[in-house]
Amino acid sequence: MAPLGLGGLGGLLLNLASGTPCAGDGHAGGHNSCDSCDNDISFLQAELRFATRAGRAPPAPLLKPIGRSFFSEDPANSAKWWLRYSSSEQLPPEKMMTVGLDQSSESAAVMVKSKGEEVEKLYFLNVNDWKSPSNLTMKDFVQAAKLSWGSVMKREQLYSPWTDFHDGHIVETLRFDQVEMDMQPFQLYETGVVQRAYIPNTTWTMEWRTDPDSDRVFPSSAEYAELVMFKNPDKCRNHWNDEFPERAYWKSTFPVLNASAAKEFALDVLHAKPLEKENPYPWPRQPGCIAVQWASLPQAAGEPFQLHFVEDFVYDTVLHSIPEFLQYQQDFLQTDVSKGCINSFMLNNLILETESLDPFARRLDELSVPYFVFAIEDRYALLFSFPGNEGVTLQLQSPHLSYVAPRPVEFCK
Ligand SMILES: *[C@@H]1O[C@H](CO)[C@@H](O)[C@H](O)[C@H]1NC(C)=O
Ligand SMILES: *[C@@H]1O[C@H](CO)[C@@H](O)[C@H](O)[C@H]1NC(C)=O
Ligand SMILES: *[C@@H]1O[C@H](CO)[C@@H](O)[C@H](O)[C@H]1NC(C)=O
Repeated sequence: MAPLGLGGLGGLLLNLASGTPCAGDGHAGGHNSCDSCDNDISFLQAELRFATRAGRAPPAPLLKPIGRSFFSEDPANSAKWWLRYSSSEQLPPEKMMTVGLDQSSESAAVMVKSKGEEVEKLYFLNVNDWKSPSNLTMKDFVQAAKLSWGSVMKREQLYSPWTDFHDGHIVETLRFDQVEMDMQPFQLYETGVVQRAYIPNTTWTMEWRTDPDSDRVFPSSAEYAELVMFKNPDKCRNHWNDEFPERAYWKSTFPVLNASAAKEFALDVLHAKPLEKENPYPWPRQPGCIAVQWASLPQAAGEPFQLHFVEDFVYDTVLHSIPEFLQYQQDFLQTDVSKGCINSFMLNNLILETESLDPFARRLDELSVPYFVFAIEDRYALLFSFPGNEGVTLQLQSPHLSYVAPRPVEFCK
């Protein structure tokens, strides 16, 4: 049976909207007209049922951001940083649930909160570090991220592509008073609306955003201002339609080799929606310009959660570049994946919760994209990286899985 085209239903909705007036039309004795409305509505309901039976695609599954997992060479130190500089609490072991927890030599986790509400869980895990055919390990890349951030702190450049690995919060989760008191290395755009910091012992940084119509963040001492205030590094960005997010944990950003391929993959596999507003950077990428593609994951309530994919060939990296890093992960996914074990990099993942893992695993199979399915505690986890843009790695968690059998978690040697 052919699925009902959008046209049929769309036309019907149009009829309803422009057709017989319904209740509230101002007719005191509008009994008859409302009868015909009821008929139209029950017909619409029947049509919808028919459409569902006939194979109309069910609504896209929701993907709720739970938090993030990081490879950390020093989990206790990474967590300590969050506890001191953000509104977070230690997450007790019984509330930890992520891939690799039981295999970690060391782990720590925090729950970030904003105004008493849970924002996200952050896991820091240290595991047996996988070595690539060119003898690179995650520790090398942690060093690269740290030194690249250092090049910005030393004012050798305004930004580094390693900084594109970041999550975005609204400023309420940041304890800037504490950051300033400790004279921490920090980046504050001179507009006062964007703040950044490096997460110690990881390949990640963090971004906070301040509502420009409320209190912008500025250091209280001139001495600290001199250390942390930077010119806006967003090469070629158009700021005319900047928006201030309302969701406390509002985005996850990734450096990629091909931003349109990353976006297309998110639209296809995650049922993400493309950005509604105009791209703030020139597209396709122009020489000397950063280029981005954004997509969003619809949520049950409130604003969508955004995924940002960035092509940055403007700024420099120290020690190891992003393409080198992505090559490392491609090497892994092309050589070791059949063993069913994951590598230390895959601990760097964005954790999203969904109703069932089945539709995602099925679609990845159709696209021949390697993935891993594990049983953890009372649920299942599906881990995969975006093909060609392997820095984008997701961990989907769900209580439901029937399409494939889960395996025990194992790390490749
Ligand atoms: C990696 O290390 C091994 C053993 O230390 C060495 O034999 C090999 O040549 C190295 N490979 C590369 C590409 O450097
Ligand atoms: C973690 O980072 C801190 C601060 O940069 C550093 O002093 C420490 O040595 C790192 N830990 C490890 C195990 O490398
Ligand atoms: C990026 O990926 C798209 C497919 O989504 C492809 O058409 C395009 O050629 C790729 N660009 C480059 C520079 O490889």
